[in-house]
Amino acid sequence: MIAVCQANREDLFINIVGSGFVFCAAFSDKVIEHFMSPQNLGDMPDADSMGICGEPGCGDFLAIFIKVKDNVIADISFLVDGCVAAVASSSMATELAKGKTLDEAARITDQDIVEALAGLPEHKLHCSVLGATALKNAIENYYIEHELVR
Ligand code: FES
Repeated sequence: MIAVCQANREDLFINIVGSGFVFCAAFSDKVIEHFMSPQNLGDMPDADSMGICGEPGCGDFLAIFIKVKDNVIADISFLVDGCVAAVASSSMATELAKGKTLDEAARITDQDIVEALAGLPEHKLHCSVLGATALKNAIENYYIEHELVR
């Protein structure tokens, strides 16, 4: 059960009630959907490359893993330590990148992620930078590790 809180506060994640979560109305349905059911969540031990953003164990952190086939992101996953918006943004970043060529995926911006989530509250916009940055780093690392000239 997802209940939407009409309280006039900006924090998204307010409380756990019974077996469900209560969110502030400031989050779009898309954000709540991706937080409750993150897409592509998990480790990828056989990844071709990994990109990170943040410092593990000291604040918000995201790692994105990619598998590349014929220059296309064939598989992608992520592990995240962050807020509701960070989880939703990471999930959306991987959804936007999957199936795209490396160059196309490298052009995905934090604004693209926010738009695909139908917006984020102003004070949560920075959370979308995690996804865009970790994705770009994974692609950059892939080029470096495979000694590919861009
Ligand atoms: Fe730090 Fe969202 S990731 S507030």
